[in-house]
Amino acid sequence: MAHNLTQDAIALLKQDHREVKDLFEQFEKASGDGRKQKLAAQICLELSVHAAIEEEIFYPACEGKVDEDLLKESYVEHDAAKVLIAEIEAADGESDEYFDSKVKVLSEEIEHHVEEEERRMEGLFAQARKAGLDMDALGDQLAARKQELIATYKASGVPKPELTTMDDVTV
Ligand SMILES: [Fe+2]
Ligand SMILES: [Fe+2]
Repeated sequence: MAHNLTQDAIALLKQDHREVKDLFEQFEKASGDGRKQKLAAQICLELSVHAAIEEEIFYPACEGKVDEDLLKESYVEHDAAKVLIAEIEAADGESDEYFDSKVKVLSEEIEHHVEEEERRMEGLFAQARKAGLDMDALGDQLAARKQELIATYKASGVPKPELTTMDDVTV
């Protein structure tokens, strides 16, 4: 993709949200293990890239500029999603009777998380916008890192997610 157009950071992140929502809807309607498996893999890839660019670039830029509790909750929600992503990545669909349920619960968690980010006035994005973050500069950084990560993950697979706020506990 040879585009160097500046993209607003929030527009980019919202676009990611729409794409993954669409994938969840496709998963819901899909039949056949192969198709579901493929969609689930795509969902895990896209969410992993999205969480990484937010945690590496967008959230740190929000530090000190948005409600601290809301920002902390965002990291924890990412980690909760990563646990399910790791489960879904590890499962091979056919042998995990909870496979569809895990994807469903992940979609519900993500829906909630997206709502917290996008909520009018009070959401993380609205607060970041109000705080005057340079959305054009951030958008460029997000887009560049996103391309890089997609290339890496497609070449060598999505790495096991790293948790930011939780210790590696065995339950
Ligand atoms: Fe997001
Ligand atoms: Fe997020």
